[in-house]
Amino acid sequence: MELGLAGRVVVVVGAARGIGEAVARAFLAESAVVAALDRDPAMPEIARQWPRALGITVDATCLAEVKAAAEQAENALGPCDHVVFAVGAGSGKYGFPFWNLEPGDWPRVLEINLIAAVNVAHSFAPRLIQAAARDVAGPSSSSPSLTFFSSVAGQMGSQTDPPYSAAKAALINFNQCAAKDLAPYGVRSNVICPGMVQTDLNRGVYEAWSRQQPEAARSTYEAWAAEKIQKVVPLNRWQKPEDSAALAVFLASNQAREITGQTMNVDGGFVMHW
Ligand SMILES: NC(=O)c1ccc[n+]([C@@H]2O[C@H](COP(=O)([O-])OP(=O)(O)OC[C@H]3O[C@@H](n4cnc5c(N)ncnc54)[C@H](O)[C@@H]3O)[C@@H](O)[C@H]2O)c1
Repeated sequence: MELGLAGRVVVVVGAARGIGEAVARAFLAESAVVAALDRDPAMPEIARQWPRALGITVDATCLAEVKAAAEQAENALGPCDHVVFAVGAGSGKYGFPFWNLEPGDWPRVLEINLIAAVNVAHSFAPRLIQAAARDVAGPSSSSPSLTFFSSVAGQMGSQTDPPYSAAKAALINFNQCAAKDLAPYGVRSNVICPGMVQTDLNRGVYEAWSRQQPEAARSTYEAWAAEKIQKVVPLNRWQKPEDSAALAVFLASNQAREITGQTMNVDGGFVMHW
């Protein structure tokens, strides 16, 4: 299948590890050029090991930093064609019942999971609109895109981390606003929701749960996850970072040029819509 991504400039935010890293690698495998952004100070060094990649350390909750990174990426790699937002973080507390958290725990979680995505949308939308205009005028048409990582937790009252779930739900809603606003310019916007993926973020949910349990009720990360997966994932297995990365690549490709405003689950059947 021709994806039309060779030589395209793709910005991946949250690319230092986990799903974002897999997304960056998947685009590189399609011969795209990648600007890898992350708050991790090691991001430039990590990206130096990859072909056709530039790593920039940036805190996505800071609009000025994201705008500066967008400028830096464009100066170094050329104008961007696609953007993927794969940042995420939990509160570090187990939110069941919700009063296990303080209201004061909410703002930072909303900043990272929602406001950072809005910062990225504001910083890159004008560039993606320009990319669409260039392509219409040029010989090969592509379909510039924004893809946000949300979560199955944003589609249900997940009794895990209420501010995380609420931020992810808001991101699904914001994606629909962005998709409608950008459609007249030929830019698409979509959401991917992973289910259970073995990353630092997922382990953090276990650790928060574990701290709440009496010593005798605690189990290992593996046992906790196996029980949860068996309960809620019909395919009864972990999803891998590469599973979501494959969809991110497809959504950015020419093959997905009619797909916008959608929320797609890569979750082994955890959430089913009809
Ligand atoms: N792992 C799962 O089970 C799971 C499930 C559902 C949704 N998700 C979502 O998938 C996405 C990727 O999650 P992951 O599991 O790979 O997490 P992860 O913790 O492994 O990676 C997240 C990355 O985001 C970066 N980051 C965090 N805050 C940042 C900030 N302010 N600015 C820039 N970078 C920042 C981190 O440094 C890290 O590299 C997130 O949106 C997450 O909410 C993950």
